[in-house]
Amino acid sequence: MDNLSHDSHDSHNAHGAHNAGNHEVRERLQELRRLVEHHRFAYYVLDKTEITDAEFDLLYHELEAIEKENPELVTAESPTQKVGARPSTDFTEVRHRIPLLSLANAMSEEDLTHWQERIDRGLADDDGNVDASGENHIFVCEHKIDGLSVALSYEKGVFKKGATRGNGEVGEDVTLNLKTIAALPGQLKSVAMLDDGTLVSRARAQAEGLKCSDKMLDHVEVRGEVYMPVSSFTKLNEALTEEGEAPFANPRNAASGSLRQKDPAKTAKRKLAFWAYFLYVLDEGVKQPLKHSENLDLLADMGFPVEPNRLVVRDLGGVKKFVDDWYMPRHALDYQTDGVVVKIDQRKIWDKLGATTHSPRWAIAFKYPPEEAETRVEAINFEVGRTGAVTPVAFLTPVKLAGTTVKRATLHNADQIKRLDVRIDDSVVVRKAGEIIPEVVCVNFDQRPQNSQPFEYPTHCPACGSELARLKDEVVLRCLNIYGCPAQRLRRLIHFVGREAMDIDGVGEVLIEQLVKAGLVSDPGDLYRLSEESLLTIERMGKKSAQNILSALETSKNRPLAALIFGLGIRHVGASVAELLAGRFPSIDSLMAAAPEEISGIEGVGPVISDNVREYFSQPESRKLIEDLRAQGVKLEQDAGEAALVLAPTLAGKTFVITGSMARMERLEAEKAIKARGGKATSSVSKKTDYVVAGESPGSKLAKAQELGIKVLDEAAFLALLELS
Ligand code: IVH
Repeated sequence: MDNLSHDSHDSHNAHGAHNAGNHEVRERLQELRRLVEHHRFAYYVLDKTEITDAEFDLLYHELEAIEKENPELVTAESPTQKVGARPSTDFTEVRHRIPLLSLANAMSEEDLTHWQERIDRGLADDDGNVDASGENHIFVCEHKIDGLSVALSYEKGVFKKGATRGNGEVGEDVTLNLKTIAALPGQLKSVAMLDDGTLVSRARAQAEGLKCSDKMLDHVEVRGEVYMPVSSFTKLNEALTEEGEAPFANPRNAASGSLRQKDPAKTAKRKLAFWAYFLYVLDEGVKQPLKHSENLDLLADMGFPVEPNRLVVRDLGGVKKFVDDWYMPRHALDYQTDGVVVKIDQRKIWDKLGATTHSPRWAIAFKYPPEEAETRVEAINFEVGRTGAVTPVAFLTPVKLAGTTVKRATLHNADQIKRLDVRIDDSVVVRKAGEIIPEVVCVNFDQRPQNSQPFEYPTHCPACGSELARLKDEVVLRCLNIYGCPAQRLRRLIHFVGREAMDIDGVGEVLIEQLVKAGLVSDPGDLYRLSEESLLTIERMGKKSAQNILSALETSKNRPLAALIFGLGIRHVGASVAELLAGRFPSIDSLMAAAPEEISGIEGVGPVISDNVREYFSQPESRKLIEDLRAQGVKLEQDAGEAALVLAPTLAGKTFVITGSMARMERLEAEKAIKARGGKATSSVSKKTDYVVAGESPGSKLAKAQELGIKVLDEAAFLALLELS
């Protein structure tokens, strides 16, 4: 359709002239689509509301109004056409504008020297002379982060698309998942530009007193590494093990698995991070800085995280020093590195040297030697976790590995022991899996003692002797003696005092072990019966520390209800689920008395959690613990500040969608009223919706409800249902 034919229509509405030929209208349309997409994503995936529902509706209605007046501008991509579509990834293929090459490896310092010689030969003139300026010997050293490389494109400063490397030419579109990474900017900052269009880093502009203007770039491509911080990786693996699932072998696999989740909400929970390492500016008339190092500074100016330990060195000796200097300290970084990437600083030289089919000639990856060591297995022990998961651990003759002395290595599970055929007294190769948790790689069978016997996996719990079971779909063995098993009790006590739980300052794993050993504590309630006197019987405990502990215990009695629920250590009830439960039930008593559907009806809480909560409270031991805590003065309900509006769960399990405006209540209020009665308020109509509440001037949701045959309530009927009329 010819858009210009609409120029003669002088149409007006509440938002002014929304005329298709009008440039401003098109811009506004783009802006609105972007905003609506952004807030939908924040709401559905990140579980974050940045604006009120009323504000969202205003944006959405304005978008609808413009499209209604200018139907020729409606495209399939518009959020109005994807009714209620929850963002989902389909991993379509993306052809990279600039291919993502790989890097050649240098396994030794000698390899680095050969690389330099190749560079010199490549840059020599016909007589074999190398440019004496020395620029070809100035390098940037960067840590080689062990994650996965991605290509990101930004248009007019806004993140548009991101893809994995794939085969270097074609990757997978993981835009929505990338949007869940907090460190990855959604909106870029402007950069400094000289009059002739050359970009400069803010640092240089300031140091050299350069006169520059602010420039928001139109087309930017960024390359970098998505990774999982070591701290997140450790927590994730602990959680997976507790849940009976197989842990990830290293942070790279974890990052890759998380970035390629079909549901971005899952990626969002995985706490990925990002370092940027290449910038390509595609704007016409704009020139990038000549040095790679300054481009990295520019990336930081734009709001990208750039690894801070990068270093410009003046010759290959400097590279070797960087490699040596970081050999040990790199293990203390919160990201796993497997080497150093060395790049020639001067980008002009990049063009001169070019690339082979696989890798550029101007960069190389120095790889640290794999960190393995051989040692002897002294014993194989089994550790019982808080929820009864039993994991085998090899106790080793201490050996130096990757900067630490290793005494223990995980054997993961029974299958792994069988696969490796590890036996006591075997010589084994241990490696730091992702340089984090040491693991046994293989057995050196040549060293196996003659009288060696195959290792028998225990059939009974090493801590309490009860029979171990393998639950459906789990790889770990579990001790099901939840209350009797001393190991589980100990782990639960440690969990109870933890920061996100009762946060008892000064009481950690070591003290708990001592208290249990001394027979002073076996249940959380016992903690509150400790006295200065009894604490002083613990080795190296001073009067002052004892008093501090008692006062921390006293303070903990007033922890929020959610912290207490979390502290009980109910399976599948993590800190955020505990928040949800505490938000719905004003006290432990009401949670204990809740019907299963009241619990599973809470948004974000499913039947598995509901079953576990019910199972937990059905145990006499759990009830005894609650009564004991009550008797000790631990607060078991929300206080006035926390108390949400909680009413009888008359709408448990019911899903509502509100459309249009109501006379007696704001949208947000209506949603609160639904949630307070145990119902769920969502913003899109689907087959799962039970009621659509239609106020004044309802939107497309009403039509959709009618199409799907969903019950529609007007305001009066809705108020009656809430028992407010
Ligand atoms: S440059 C053409 N810089 O290492 C240049 N890569 O072995 C390719 N990597 O695929 C990338 N940190 O996944 C570069 N500072 C860094 C890097 C880095 C990690 C990864 C990246 C790449 C692989 C090549």
